[in-house]
Amino acid sequence: MATFIALVSALLVSSVYSAKALSSNYYDHTCPQAESMVSRTVKKAMLSDKTVPAALLRMHFHDCFIRVTPFCLAFLLGCDASVLLNSTSKNQAEKDGPPNISLHAFYVIDIAKEEIEASCPGVVSCADILAFAARDAVSLSGGPTWDVPKGRLDGRISKANDTLQLPFPTFNISQLQQSFAQRGLSLDDLVALSEFAASLQSVCPMHNKVKNAGANMDTTPVAFDNGYFELLLQGKSLFSSDQALLTNPKTKALVSKYACSQEEFEKAFVKAMIRMSSITGGEEIRRHCRVVR
Ligand code: HEM
Repeated sequence: MATFIALVSALLVSSVYSAKALSSNYYDHTCPQAESMVSRTVKKAMLSDKTVPAALLRMHFHDCFIRVTPFCLAFLLGCDASVLLNSTSKNQAEKDGPPNISLHAFYVIDIAKEEIEASCPGVVSCADILAFAARDAVSLSGGPTWDVPKGRLDGRISKANDTLQLPFPTFNISQLQQSFAQRGLSLDDLVALSEFAASLQSVCPMHNKVKNAGANMDTTPVAFDNGYFELLLQGKSLFSSDQALLTNPKTKALVSKYACSQEEFEKAFVKAMIRMSSITGGEEIRRHCRVVR
């Protein structure tokens, strides 16, 4: 039954997501410098705080996984920068939901947005800026890079309670599979995306903020490799949701595959990131990422 629900969810979700087409050249005529502005900002922030890349990647994941309710299509918002909105006197926003209390480095997105607004006002969404920043966080940390499809819009709804839709670290493999399938994501995506979650956290744990003096960041970037999968196979994982990947024959085989091949892992990771960050909805281009227009 769970597999059936997951399958139906995946079909529904993928047919709806394909309705909002993203494109590679979306800002070519309106703001061609947007991506390089974001890269520069992320790079600069990483020089003074090594925890920035992990924070940006997790922020993007938490943005994309929220308000995705396949059986109530009006809520298909996904990567709409709702995670960036501040709470107001009338509304407690996602930012203040339990799993998001530890999110940080929002200032990096604010700086990038401010610079972009100064050159191309009202054109580039906060949701796209966050997707660029997550990609830059990975690539500037020694991971793969990719072309981010663009054209997301910013959402106007952000509710703390919705953060309970995020997968829990105690989830078993069926719960993880279902959570990903509801967003049109496969078991391959689940396993591939688990790598950076764990490796970024182990290199730059949030509760152990290492402030980098700056000088060596360019010459010795944080190295990312498929070592996570080797550790996982040895039973050394961060969360029980990581260990859960070994309890299903298909995910276990993928863990072994990625443990053996950095190339296979990177290919799968990029594919999964593009699929995750293409879960889109939203309605507007915000002027400031923390408030709706
Ligand atoms: C599969 C289900 C997942 C679960 C259950 C999960 C759970 C968690 C938990 C509990 C933390 C620790 C948070 C803290 O220290 O307060 C964490 C950290 C992190 N997660 Fe996930 N996560 C999942 C998937 C992902 C995915 C798909 C990504 C990105 C593509 C991701 C990126 C990260 C990153 C980068 C960190 C480190 C954040 C930091 O140190 O600032 N996670 N995750």
